[in-house]
Amino acid sequence: MNSDSHRHSDIDDCLIIDINTIRHDNGRLTVMENLATAPLQIKRVYYLYDLPAGAERGGHSHLATREFVVPLSGSFDVVVDDGRRSRRVTLNNPGRGLLLPAGIWRTLDNFSSGSICLVLASEKYDESDYVREYDDFKQLTADKR
Ligand code: TYD
Repeated sequence: MNSDSHRHSDIDDCLIIDINTIRHDNGRLTVMENLATAPLQIKRVYYLYDLPAGAERGGHSHLATREFVVPLSGSFDVVVDDGRRSRRVTLNNPGRGLLLPAGIWRTLDNFSSGSICLVLASEKYDESDYVREYDDFKQLTADKR
């Protein structure tokens, strides 16, 4: 298991990024283009919706995959953790997303009713890229101390 990403991950690299947005009287259009205005090369897109009250998602880190999380509708919180520090980020603007580098443990909660969470991922789905046990994550990040 290549754990470099976990040795070096830092919640300060979880950047809140404004997405290119075109505003008109008749509405707003927000657009991302691979390697131009998107913060990563997009290989996969998925979205979370129909989230029941009190839902918690995430609860894992990735060895290589980087993700950009956008609140398409409503609001929710992302708790980011690098094994040393953690921070809660509220996302509520579809023109602004949160970049999650590899090696960051993330938990999503506090979903508002009807919220939709769009995720752009730098890699295709691969279960072997997940760290799903928090104890394993703590071991992978232990060198930072
Ligand atoms: P998971 O990544 O744990 O969801 P979340 O972080 O939103 O809580 O994935 C939940 C399930 O969906 C798990 O069985 C794997 C599957 N899945 C895919 O098949 N492809 C994908 O691209 C993703 C993100 C998940």
